[in-house]
Order: sequence, then structure tokens, then C-alpha cells
Amino acid sequence: MTDHRIAAPLLPGATIGMVGGGQLGRMFALEARRMGYRLIVLDPGTDTPAAQFCDHHIRAPFEDLNACLELARRSDVVTLEWENADVSTLRAMGEHVQIHPSPDVLEVAQHRVREKDAARRLGVLTAEYRAVRSKEELEAALAEIGAPAILKTARMGYDGKGQATIRDAAEAGAAWEELSREGDDFILEARVPFWMEVSVICARSASGQTACFPVSENEHRRGILHLTVAPARVPDEIAEEARRVATALAEGLGVVGLLAVEMFVDADGRILMNEIAPRPHNSGHHTWEACGVSQFEQQLRAVCGLPLGDPALLRPAAMVNLMGEDAGTGLGRAGVARALEIPGTALHLYGKHEARAGRKMGHLTVLADSADEAARRARRAWERIAAGG
Ligand SMILES: Nc1ncnc2c1ncn2[C@@H]1O[C@H](COP(=O)(O)OP(=O)(O)O)[C@@H](O)[C@H]1O
Ligand SMILES: [Mg+2]
Repeated sequence: MTDHRIAAPLLPGATIGMVGGGQLGRMFALEARRMGYRLIVLDPGTDTPAAQFCDHHIRAPFEDLNACLELARRSDVVTLEWENADVSTLRAMGEHVQIHPSPDVLEVAQHRVREKDAARRLGVLTAEYRAVRSKEELEAALAEIGAPAILKTARMGYDGKGQATIRDAAEAGAAWEELSREGDDFILEARVPFWMEVSVICARSASGQTACFPVSENEHRRGILHLTVAPARVPDEIAEEARRVATALAEGLGVVGLLAVEMFVDADGRILMNEIAPRPHNSGHHTWEACGVSQFEQQLRAVCGLPLGDPALLRPAAMVNLMGEDAGTGLGRAGVARALEIPGTALHLYGKHEARAGRKMGHLTVLADSADEAARRARRAWERIAAGG
């Protein structure tokens, strides 16, 4: 493969290519435009959240090799907000332009077994897991790991989709029935009785400089992130270990850009990696208001070879997702004005035209003097939008 290492930083005026045009790309686009960069987005949708703010939108499916090559040719660097593009297509694009993070990193991050194998190789703990490709392998894996366990599709899962919990051996058949329609490549994981879920977003530049955002504490509902609180309310040693794990993974995988690492803290205070995402992450949205640099600007700096920004938390913050089922995200925006009465509340809406249940429509970030107070206010603000008044 041709070596296109960036010797000098890509300065404002350069064109950044973005694979994916959702809300992560939108917030990246806002930062890129603010800093004077040009942005081309590849996404199959019309008027997508990111396309509303980019210079050019190549409207094509991610499987369209010619469209991907057009993005590569027209960009000075390519980055992504969606990590599931075909790796061989990405490698073909890599003949024309640097892609950050690299196709090698994406190949790992696209597959739950590979990412856990990589974690273990780097000395990072994970739940017990087995690769599963048939009902017989599922039964054998369950006998080894024990119940409760979670069967997940190895690829393409997000927001808890493509997962089935197996509470005891008798449920294995039903779980297989349900998920085997979605592919032939699975992972069975022991269900971790975690004390808390946390995440760390680590930025790494081509020169090897790394910078972690403070640890986020995450609460999920039905497999979807609901609330993030920063800083996570954990002892310092646990926060330190979470950041060490994220840095070890970013360095070990050779990430250039961002690596978001979701982790469980168990009852003994041990950190187990759950999954990685080589891009901005929902649990880092508060960085926009709360940190010295947002995760999106940090991604831009990392992929353009600029010095990384200061990820320090300037004020405790809480972020709550606004979903399609929350009344205020629909027509009329009921409850939005009342939510904004709560001091320190900022509103982000992603410009999605249709509010569907389970769809992320926007988020609120609330800053306060303590993490507890930020979390309380964020819940109150969310209740007003969810209830629509
Ligand atoms: N092995 C596990 N043990 C306990 N809870 C889990 C496990 N795997 C997933 N979960 C729960 O489901 C959520 C979503 O699963 P995750 O593996 O992160 O997939 P997704 O790609 O959908 O985010 C996690 O944040 C966590 O709350
Ligand atoms: Mg997850």
C-alpha cells in the first residue's frame, strides 16, 4: 500500500471526508466548519444530520465502491462516524488518501470477537466469551460459560440490537431461533453483574500523542444510553485504571483519531472492557459544553495531525438522550421551553425529520457545580421533554 503519512498537519482550508452522515458527523461538521475546514460527507440518506452542515454530500450507499473512491479522491484525509463500512472498500480508498482510524483498526472494531481477542492480547480484562457459529456451538459455549449469558451478533449491533439474554440453559434454543435469522457469526458473553458502566474516549494523533477525556458514567435503558454523568462518581483509582485501559487499547491498536471504550466496573472495582468504537461516542456529547475541547474537535485535530486539545472537564456535566418516543422531539417540541428553564441546560437537536421510537433525535447537556446536581437537573429537564410539558 502507498504510504501517505501526513508529514505536515492538514491546515484549515483542507477537505475532510466523512464516512456516515448522522449526528456524530453533524457535530464534527459544525466544529470543522468553525475551524475553516471543508467537509464532504458520504451517506445514502437525503438531508441527513451531517449533510445539513457539509460542503458537499455524496449521496450513495457505503457499498458503492465508485462513490467511496470519489470521496477518497476529493478529500485530503478521510475519517468516519460509522465504523462498519466494508474493509476491502476502505483499503481501496486507502490507496488514494489516509483513512483515520485505519482499516486495520476498523476490522477489529467491526467484530465483537476480534475486539475482545485484541483486548485480552493487550492485557485488558473482558467478560468470559466464546465465538459461536451454530446452535451446537452455542450449547457448548453456554455449558462452559454458564448462565446468565448474552448472545450477540458479532457484527453490526448497536443500541442493544442483535442481542438476546439467556437466563438459563432452557432459553438457549429460543435465543438461537431469534438471532440466527440475523447472520451466522455470534458471540456468547457471560452477563457481568456490574456495579457501574463507564466509558473513556481516548484521542491519539499520528505522532503518538494521546489524551483521554475524563471518565463518563453511563446509564442505559433497554440497551440504549440514557444518561451520562461526568466525572463518573468512582474512586480515583478506578478512574485512573479506566483511562489506562483506554490508552492501552488506543496505543495497542495503533488508533489515529478517537477510540471510545465502554467498560463495566464490577463489584470488586475491576474494569472489564465491553466494546470499543473508533469514533466520537454518545457518552462524550457533554464534552461540547463541558471540556476544554469537544470530542469532535479532538477527532479533527487527531486526524489532521494538529496538536491535541485540552480534554479537561471545566465543569461537572450530565447528558441525557432525547429519543423519538419523547414527546418534545416530535412536532410542536412540547416541553422544550420548560426544559430550558433549568439552569445550565443546553439543547441539541439533530435535524432528523421523523421522530421514531428508539431513534436518537437529540440530547440535553446540563452543567452544574457537582456531578450529582448535574444528573438531577438533567433527569428533570428530560422528564419535561419526555412528558411533553
Ligand atoms: N456481557 C454483558 N454483561 C452485562 N450487561 C451487558 C453485557 N453486554 C451488554 N450489556 C448491556 O447492554 C448494553 C448494550 O450492549 P453493548 O454490548 O454495549 O452493545 P451495543 O453495541 O448495542 O451498545 C450495555 O451497555 C450493557 O448495559
Ligand atoms: Mg455499547
